Amino acid sequence: MPRKLAAGNWKMNGLRANVKELATLAQRHSDASVDILICVPTTLITTCQDTLFDIGGQDCHTAESGAHTGDISAQMLSDAGATYVITGHSERRADHGETDQIVAAKSAAAYAAGLTAVICVGETLDERGSGTTLDIIDGQLAGSIPGGATSDNTVIAYEPVWAIGTGKVPTLEQIAEVHAHIRAQLQARFSDGTDMRILYGGSVKGSNAADIFGVPHVDGALVGGASLKADDFSPIISALEKS
Ligand code: PGA
Repeated sequence: MPRKLAAGNWKMNGLRANVKELATLAQRHSDASVDILICVPTTLITTCQDTLFDIGGQDCHTAESGAHTGDISAQMLSDAGATYVITGHSERRADHGETDQIVAAKSAAAYAAGLTAVICVGETLDERGSGTTLDIIDGQLAGSIPGGATSDNTVIAYEPVWAIGTGKVPTLEQIAEVHAHIRAQLQARFSDGTDMRILYGGSVKGSNAADIFGVPHVDGALVGGASLKADDFSPIISALEKS
């Protein structure tokens, strides 16, 4: 069984004053039996360096350095203290036109810098409505995961676009179908695909976490809104520990 992972994604939220939430979380989960990762805005990575938890970035450039004003490389994230980076989040795919090919290149850059990539996939509501969810997921997995992926350097996050920040969650059967499908794809392509962690993301809260974590091949969660406050994230971590 892969070691479970509770991952927070603060997105474009958080000032230095908000880092105290991590201290509160650390008091409650200092001996957690699951891995805990917080993907903070780049500006907070060094501020978080003393936290108990793994710290991640939310995006990186494909190149190690160069003339790319405003961009951040994986090596810079690592240098600042990050050990993970999210790649291919649907907000970046939508807002910045990131293709599978770009996501694969960013993930490869993450590996080269010694970071673990949390590679995100997920269908839109239209795609789900038209019955093409598994085809979309297959295409994203094939295109976004670079060669060289292992269970150490790669985590997959299944995040239905329509469930992110909406309070809408797929049924447990829908989550089970997609996670089992992703597991089979990973096993077919990678020798350690059985051990690659597959997170569910999209409106995870304390109230639905236990049910979601009971679904086969759900190895944790990628949590946006409910990761910002210790009081909201803590019950999700506890549910994962009990699962
Ligand atoms: P949410 O976001 O938990 O606020 O729905 C999840 C994500 O986008 O990673």
